[in-house]
Amino acid sequence: MRGVTAMAVAVRRPDGGITSRAETLHGLATSRLRTVPLLRGVLVLLETMQLGMHALTWSAAVAAGAVDEHGEAEGLAIFDWIALIGAFVFGVGVFFIGPVLATAWLDRIASHWVSIAAEGGIRVALLLGYIWVIGRKGDIARVFQYHGAEHMTIYAHEDGRELSVPAVRRYPKEHPRCGTSFLLTVALVSIFVFAFAGTEPLWWRFASRLILIPFIAAVSYEAIRFAGFHQRWPVVRWLFAGNIALQYLTTRRRRRADPGRDRRAPALPRRRAGARTSRQRVTADPHAMDAAIRARRSIRGLEGPPLPPDQVEALVALALTAPAPHHTEPWRFVEVSPARREALADAMGAAWDTDLDADGHTEARRAWALARSHRRITGAPTLILGCLVAEGLNTYADDRRARAEWGLAQHSFGAALQNMLLGASARGLGAYWISAPLYAPEAVRAALDLDPAWEPQALVCIGHRSAEYVPFDRRTATCRGSSCGGSDRITLTPALSPQGRGAEGCHANVEVSWVG
Ligand SMILES: Cc1cc2nc3c(=O)[nH]c(=O)nc-3n(C[C@H](O)[C@H](O)[C@H](O)COP(=O)(O)O)c2cc1C
Repeated sequence: MRGVTAMAVAVRRPDGGITSRAETLHGLATSRLRTVPLLRGVLVLLETMQLGMHALTWSAAVAAGAVDEHGEAEGLAIFDWIALIGAFVFGVGVFFIGPVLATAWLDRIASHWVSIAAEGGIRVALLLGYIWVIGRKGDIARVFQYHGAEHMTIYAHEDGRELSVPAVRRYPKEHPRCGTSFLLTVALVSIFVFAFAGTEPLWWRFASRLILIPFIAAVSYEAIRFAGFHQRWPVVRWLFAGNIALQYLTTRRRRRADPGRDRRAPALPRRRAGARTSRQRVTADPHAMDAAIRARRSIRGLEGPPLPPDQVEALVALALTAPAPHHTEPWRFVEVSPARREALADAMGAAWDTDLDADGHTEARRAWALARSHRRITGAPTLILGCLVAEGLNTYADDRRARAEWGLAQHSFGAALQNMLLGASARGLGAYWISAPLYAPEAVRAALDLDPAWEPQALVCIGHRSAEYVPFDRRTATCRGSSCGGSDRITLTPALSPQGRGAEGCHANVEVSWVG
């Protein structure tokens, strides 16, 4: 990975450990020439080739145990250089000259626009085919997992997040400034550039494919850079959708049970030998699971210091395992620091007061409700805001399906929050859910400077349970089906009013409604 002033490489060693090194960048890489439009694209291309070679040589040396006592790799031998230059010339030949050879004859039977379009089409097909074929190999598939992880890390870094696994996991694996997207952009930009370069005479047709490479790289670099900084513009997202789509091939998320995750051999035989995985532990003792679910209560009496960061991360990580529609990860969480709490409580309080006033509540009643809400927000040992984003959800022109789609995300949010509450309860902590942000999203957004794409849903207060707090009596919603009547389709709704109580055959406080 290359940053503004430094680069870092991490390599998995044969023994399973990881060796990494970081280097400060000097010279052309950080010079003022790097700010000159178009020129910077050419410099980046040269620098990427140089840094990439350097990193590859070093990683090969680490893998072969051929580094010296300072961790440096030996220089390349003459044969390595020949092989490298040969591979480079072969790549440029196949990608730039090959399509001309394959299509030049078309000029005899059609306009030169046809052969230019066919040449460009072959170039794009070669690129996609190559990526698809190599991605099927185990090792490269694994590289693509690292590639996705690298993008997620860069997102987190650019977002100012700490670089921990749970924090990084919530970012997408596709990045608009990705190197493979650059290759696709090169292939597409070259169609336009070569169209202007013309096709006559034949020697120029071949020569232009080589001479114009730096110019094409420069334009492509500017395009990618622009797209990266203007992702919020729908037209940019639309124009560069192909780049993001290509990354479905070149980036992967590591699957949970991926045996390639860690090559440290002992882990696999142990698992095969039937060592208990966490999944097996859960299914082996369903009663423990049942008991943990039953034991969770909303604990509104909280005290003690804020949770340590690793405990917050662990609870958020549990939330992130929730089921979600279309394999999306629509949840986002913010730990609200004490410094922001007053502003948050005031903003939400003002919004709520307006609603209570409109509902006709007395001033005394409003003051009481607002003071309690203020106390809960400012006094929670740890306060976490949960949000949803629409990223990855289907979009529909009609309101009915659009609302349903958002409903799917909200269902998923409920599951995520339940995971977090269960995790807190299992750790002996108290926690409860505050849904007020859903009623005052703008107030929350403004008070916390939230990303406009994040839709506030709920707050979770977490801390140590105060000994005095007694949870509300739980009214169990169970129904003995046979005595409820003949239908096998029933819905149970917890009774909200006395009229709802006592439906025949059911627990005293559920209302039974028949469906169908
Ligand atoms: C969507 C949702 C919103 C909730 N909002 C609040 C809230 O704003 N304030 C609160 O004190 N509890 C809130 N709760 C917690 C419920 O009041 C609580 O879960 C319910 O009374 C059952 O009690 P238990 O959690 O102890 O089983 C909410 C729960 C859910 C699922």
